[in-house]
Amino acid sequence: MPAITLVGAQWGDEGKGKATDLVGNRVDYVVRYQGGNNAGHTVVIGDQKYALHLLPSGILSPDVVPVIANGVVIDPAVLFEELRGLRERGVSTERLLVSANAHMIMPYHRALDKVTERFLGKGRIGTTGRGIGPTYADKISRTGIRVQDMFDPKILRQKLELALNDKNQVLTKVFNRRGVDLDQVFDEYMGYAEELRPFVADTSLELNKALDDGKTVYLEGSQGTLLDIDHGTYPFVTSSSPTAGGACAGAGLGPTRITKVVGIVKAYTTRVGSGPFPTELHDEWGEWLRQKGGEYGVTTGRNRRCGWFDAPIARYATRINGITDFFLTKLDVLSGLERIPVCVGYEANGTRHDEIPMTQTDFHHAVPVYEYLDGWNEDISHARSFEELPKTAQAYVRTLEEMAGAPISAIGVGPGRDQTLELRSLV
Ligand code: IMP
Repeated sequence: MPAITLVGAQWGDEGKGKATDLVGNRVDYVVRYQGGNNAGHTVVIGDQKYALHLLPSGILSPDVVPVIANGVVIDPAVLFEELRGLRERGVSTERLLVSANAHMIMPYHRALDKVTERFLGKGRIGTTGRGIGPTYADKISRTGIRVQDMFDPKILRQKLELALNDKNQVLTKVFNRRGVDLDQVFDEYMGYAEELRPFVADTSLELNKALDDGKTVYLEGSQGTLLDIDHGTYPFVTSSSPTAGGACAGAGLGPTRITKVVGIVKAYTTRVGSGPFPTELHDEWGEWLRQKGGEYGVTTGRNRRCGWFDAPIARYATRINGITDFFLTKLDVLSGLERIPVCVGYEANGTRHDEIPMTQTDFHHAVPVYEYLDGWNEDISHARSFEELPKTAQAYVRTLEEMAGAPISAIGVGPGRDQTLELRSLV
């Protein structure tokens, strides 16, 4: 009956795909509960590398039921392309379940995402341009289109008419763009209906029943805590709740069902898009981390901004999500440093902060206060137990654990499936 939630503890791209893959064959369901194809999970199996954007990484484990739950926003063209790509590589996809209540990303959402970003100029968020924000905005304003609408042509047309009345005014009159043709969108989305139908289910019912039957459900968050619409660095955030609380609403499970919350945290920090990032490095060390860590976006190919580990952020993630275990990823990237800076607090506008400052203004001006930990030179990518790590790497892990406020139960020392040290079972 365990329901385990996995959350990014930083700004996303912490290596969640690897963590899910580790437990993938020990769970029965892998569920995405928020976000859409703005995510990018890379999973390496043998010599095969899979980049997934919308599908739960559980799709790669033959005994797992992958679920796209109600809190996700779905671009149907992307969904079918990803499914086709996997089938061509021999991965079976028919186990997938898609919630009838999930919202659909429409062509006007993508158009609005791009055009609003352009109009924001220097104030832009740096979105992935996939239409995520405008789709969630319509969901909240109750003008969204849901998966189940594909199966009622009359309703779909009615809802589209209403939505386009407004969107086409905005696109043409405010942004001077071409409007969207009602018949064209209607035909396109009706065309998806039959392909979608076999996957569609009441996923909340299915998951609750699975838990009643003693099955293990794994809720896979995308993005990260600092990109959460409520708890992240607003407005430089995504438009959903990737934090553990969001897993309940986004999957239709009660909070008492969640038994464990695993925070994925990188041994250093990265972020894509705009917004505050106190430990960001603008010098050659930033480039060193980027190159050694391969910090280029899976979804957009953008260079990730890189910096040292930020302990108040990890501690914040523990607090917001109720993290019970951490999975520390990419420790191997730090090999070769004499001393490793770790941010333990900030100075902002003349005040010392041990936790993330309460206001965005202070966080924007936060200058990190560093402690320096001893590094190691050994290549640790072949280590298969904690004891095989150099003593200074062990001490780095133990210090991070103390600062972050929850035990580190697994450590990633390379991208491969076997390059994980599991100190305690994550399931
Ligand atoms: P959106 O999610 O496309 O609206 O983008 C909002 C912000 O979230 C931007 O700064 C994106 O770069 C960031 N973002 C969205 N998805 C991810 C992700 O999977 N990893 C890291 N950053 C992301």
